[in-house]
Amino acid sequence: MNSPSPEVELAEPQMLGFLEFLGIDVEYVRAEGNTLFFRDGSGQEIPVLDYAGGYGALILGHNHPEIVAAAREFLDSGRPVLAQASRQTAASEVAAALNRILRREFADSEPYYAVFSNSGAESVEVALKHAEFDRVLKVRALEAEVAVHIAEAREAVAAKRATVAAGALRSVTLEADARGTDTPGTDARSLDVFEDLVAVVLRRNAEQAARPPVFLTLEGGFHGKLAGSVQLTHNAAFRLPFAGMAAQARFLPFDQPQAVAKLTEEERATVLDVVVEDGEVRLVERPFPVFAAFVLEVVQGEGGIHLVSPEMARAVRRASDSVGCPVVVDEIQSGMGRTGAFFASSLIGLRADYYTLAKGLGGGIAKAAVTLVRESRYRKDFELVHSSTFAKDTFSNTLALKTLELLEAGDGEAYRLAGKWGERLLSLFESLRAEFPDVVKDVRGRGLMLGLEFHDQSGSAATGIRDAAAAGIFGYALSGYLFRVHRVRTFPTASAVDTLRFEPSVLLTDAEVDRLEAALRELCAVLREQNEQALFGV
Ligand code: F0G
Repeated sequence: MNSPSPEVELAEPQMLGFLEFLGIDVEYVRAEGNTLFFRDGSGQEIPVLDYAGGYGALILGHNHPEIVAAAREFLDSGRPVLAQASRQTAASEVAAALNRILRREFADSEPYYAVFSNSGAESVEVALKHAEFDRVLKVRALEAEVAVHIAEAREAVAAKRATVAAGALRSVTLEADARGTDTPGTDARSLDVFEDLVAVVLRRNAEQAARPPVFLTLEGGFHGKLAGSVQLTHNAAFRLPFAGMAAQARFLPFDQPQAVAKLTEEERATVLDVVVEDGEVRLVERPFPVFAAFVLEVVQGEGGIHLVSPEMARAVRRASDSVGCPVVVDEIQSGMGRTGAFFASSLIGLRADYYTLAKGLGGGIAKAAVTLVRESRYRKDFELVHSSTFAKDTFSNTLALKTLELLEAGDGEAYRLAGKWGERLLSLFESLRAEFPDVVKDVRGRGLMLGLEFHDQSGSAATGIRDAAAAGIFGYALSGYLFRVHRVRTFPTASAVDTLRFEPSVLLTDAEVDRLEAALRELCAVLREQNEQALFGV
């Protein structure tokens, strides 16, 4: 029996209102493969072809029979879902399976440790936290080394084996002038002068250590909407209201490899250290780890499907190596085989120090995410400072394992399918662009991560189309049309409102591609005619 719906909508009413406005506020009652079903007024099931694919989370489609069977089998077995602080073989097996894939795609044997979580944004937060933990431990180690050097120098000065070098003395005087304090003594042999020098060093280093970490990332990137990850999500509407909450991100132009080294050079920082050489205490500068990580998507998804070039990838790797910070590749959307390889970064030769995975990892049923950290970068003590009640649970890892098994089956058949269908869809989109250059602006993507960009319609003579464009909802109007008239589901993103995104599963069929083709061809014709009655169904 259906329970009565509440009189007042309390679960995100504004969003539901928007879906009603677009005419897509149906409730789906069943799903399989690339199809969702809702019931019309007479109770009949209406199929909808789903190219939104759970925002890229359905690499094997809705309710894949083998994943459903694995879920049933798990529940029937009576095994516990939540048994934290116990041996969790499923998680270990997922980590091992991911490492086998990493070894194959990057031809490298260094292992990656796995930290599990529950959503994409959370796996990014884990990466940010781990990178900052690593950076802070490096800062502490650096401070400890400086402290040892100070103690050694103090002993040398006290034993009259060393005097403060003229250059170092000048720094003390300069600092005293700058601060308006008394100029210290100038007897380079005096311990007081040495202590003044130490004060300068410690003050300067404490200022440096108090600076927040800098995370480097790319314009157009999307890494989630939690308090940390949203700071690295470029869209200002998502980020700025929460800018006071956490990490500092510096955004680099997506397509300017030369800008990467320039920025890292500009932001480079140092701390002061002392050395005793030839009977003198001298000041030296040592590099300070100001950068926590370089975080990027290699195929920007929410940003509207943009591919990072191999040149950009090389520039990121080089700059990160030169400042000693890890490269974090966010494969939450591009990973799990969607682009024709398990890791999209392997296709442009970018080996990361950390990877984040989520979306498809739970097989479209469980919520699962993981952050992989290369052994040489991994801080085992992170396991003591980070945890989550639901992370690493046996149910989601059992489904993750089944998903990986299905993806890897048949010698990577799933990846070949993603490549094959991707090419088929790309050539369909290209032919639409050739036929409707006045309507289709650009076609982008790789594998089953594709974008079809439409020309801006804010100058349209049709009032409704112009108004939709001015309100930034033109792409959503296209979604409404495709759903209403063709029963095809796809959306733009909040950051690329004129680009429709296509992320179907690898189980696509010729008939499904044909249906999309017919729908898009008609949509293009409607736009060419500026037929707003047809577009809005009024
Ligand atoms: N990173 C990337 C590359 C993503 O695409 C997303 C989500 C996230 C992180 C955050 O994952 O939603 O599980 O917390 N992308 C969705 C999209 C929302 O529309 O592209 P989450």
